Amino acid sequence: MLTIGNIKLPNPIILAPMAGVTDTPFRRLCKEQGAGVVYSEFVSAHGIIRENEKTLEMIRFTPFERPIGVQIFGDDPSVMGKAAKFVADKFQPDILDINYGCPVPKVTKKGAGSAALKDLVLMEDITAAVVEAVPDIPVTVKMRSGWSSNSIVIPKAGELLENAGVKAITLHPRTTKQGYTGTSDWSMIKTLKQAVSIPVIGNGDVTSVNSMHKMLGETGCDGIMIGRAALGNPWIFRELNVGLKNELIPPPPTLEERIAMCRRHLDLLVESRGEHVGSNLMRKHFGWYLKGFPGAAAVRKSLVTAPDIQTMQNVLGALFTNTTDNEKRPFI
Ligand SMILES: Cc1cc2nc3c(=O)[nH]c(=O)nc-3n(C[C@H](O)[C@H](O)[C@H](O)COP(=O)(O)O)c2cc1C
Repeated sequence: MLTIGNIKLPNPIILAPMAGVTDTPFRRLCKEQGAGVVYSEFVSAHGIIRENEKTLEMIRFTPFERPIGVQIFGDDPSVMGKAAKFVADKFQPDILDINYGCPVPKVTKKGAGSAALKDLVLMEDITAAVVEAVPDIPVTVKMRSGWSSNSIVIPKAGELLENAGVKAITLHPRTTKQGYTGTSDWSMIKTLKQAVSIPVIGNGDVTSVNSMHKMLGETGCDGIMIGRAALGNPWIFRELNVGLKNELIPPPPTLEERIAMCRRHLDLLVESRGEHVGSNLMRKHFGWYLKGFPGAAAVRKSLVTAPDIQTMQNVLGALFTNTTDNEKRPFI
């Protein structure tokens, strides 16, 4: 069983933090399908200590989502420490995660996110400040392998983080310069695993039971974090958990199940964010849920451009009614 600090996880398949995606409704759906831990999207430490309402909204969660990790990012050890304490006091998440992986220039220009990969002293200072600020909550780190292929920080950064009191490290083994291009270099997950005694969570390009087993086998990692493969596909957690037990893998969801999930996701978004914001946030999810069946492009277009929630519900209703027996079968 994977344990992070004092938190025992029900299973080692973890929902990755994803900005604009892993809000309360999506975390809930992934949890229902078996995610062992869910993470918030990354939240600005500066926004937290200013008590910016939009920032705090990204952190709020329901008890059902536990165990949950809240991920924070920032450039200043003292601000990061204060933000961590604020989050711990106000929200009591199970895990507090530090982002050392974000490659977006708007974030790294200010010295936050993966900029710390260029400055291990800063990384050490930020980590120590956060660990000290939240003595009762395990602190984890999510990182890339280095700023560029010439400046890989694995395993050195792993040893430094373990010494600073971090309780688990998630490694997405691409460099900042790589962005999302190329493939993750899983050999770095193995290198990190061999260098530290805290749990290592492997991340990057796991999309199926096969790739999960391959990562576990090649790296010896303790957990697997799933990002893009969960977009429009919360069922991935059910599938991977079944695969972990070497049981029969369930068929992929049918079009009917996808429509039902869309409706539920839309309802949850409207419940948490109101009709206008909730239905707008749902547009990108429609694109992810509804792909791959005959006529999908036209349906996605009418959902993404629907002027209001009633139109969205009508389009989903019509799609459901018009679904042929053939389309009710699973599709990939
Ligand atoms: C839309 C999107 C938003 C993301 N936002 C975050 C984030 O807020 N914090 C973070 O640490 N990583 C973020 N990531 C990176 C993912 O957590 C993950 O490391 C990456 O997608 C690789 O894993 P995958 O191959 O399973 O997708 C984001 C990725 C995507 C696609």
